[in-house]
Amino acid sequence: MHIITHSFDHNEMLVEQLLAQFPLEIAMYKAIGCNSIEEYKNTGDGHVAVLKHEGLKNGMRIYDLGCGSGRTAQALVRSGWHGEYKGADIVHKLVDYLKEKCPGYDAAVNRKLNLLAENNSLDMVFHWSVFTHLYIEECYIYLQEVMRTLKPGGRLLFSFLELEDERHRKIFADRIAKFKGPDVWGHLDTFLHRDWIRRWAAEIGFTPPRFTDGTDGAHHPPFWQTLVAMDKPAPPGGTVFGA
Ligand SMILES: C[S@@+](CC[C@H](N)C(=O)[O-])C[C@H]1O[C@@H](n2cnc3c(N)ncnc32)[C@H](O)[C@@H]1O
Repeated sequence: MHIITHSFDHNEMLVEQLLAQFPLEIAMYKAIGCNSIEEYKNTGDGHVAVLKHEGLKNGMRIYDLGCGSGRTAQALVRSGWHGEYKGADIVHKLVDYLKEKCPGYDAAVNRKLNLLAENNSLDMVFHWSVFTHLYIEECYIYLQEVMRTLKPGGRLLFSFLELEDERHRKIFADRIAKFKGPDVWGHLDTFLHRDWIRRWAAEIGFTPPRFTDGTDGAHHPPFWQTLVAMDKPAPPGGTVFGA
């Protein structure tokens, strides 16, 4: 099994640098790209609103791929949700912080391209701002893993960057400028295309993806990144979400 090395080097180093500079709580929100504790909390609450809109119920078994320092996990605790939570990330100190903040939630370091779950065992898998930092081949392999581990009728939700969104295109423009500059730029920002996601979903066997623009606040707070939802096809008799 391929082991993640590119994001590992960058992320582990970033966390160590932040911990040397800031108190733990500040380092933990900065490590996943937040500028304040309010932003960290509000974004986590937004994640939970998306999950609830997409059918999260108490008692479900859920998997948070690239859980970071537990922005979503802490918001789940605040929301009063109870069920079986499993998080995985490539950075030890982020996982340790999540476990300290969310007693009873399970989280682990995993640097392989797999999900730490049995076949057909999960109701929901989600990953916010994780495919944004992977090679597209890695994204594809994780999608295969999600197919393996979701229950029939289970749901995958994730966020991604796309060049069709003007705000995301700005990141691309910044990257072009950095690549022209003098410094080696090791941080990966990956842009996906809705057509690729549709194709991958069809090849791997998911239901056709449903997309929500990052600016769409109709059912939950706007997300900034584009959201996509897709299901492992349901058994006869309905999905685990009862739809
Ligand atoms: C921008 S942060 C988002 C964290 C979290 N999903 C959230 O929204 O709060 C991206 C996270 O993905 C993690 N990551 C990157 N590559 C990963 C991989 N292959 N497997 C698991 N986590 C990964 C990073 O360590 C980092 O914590």
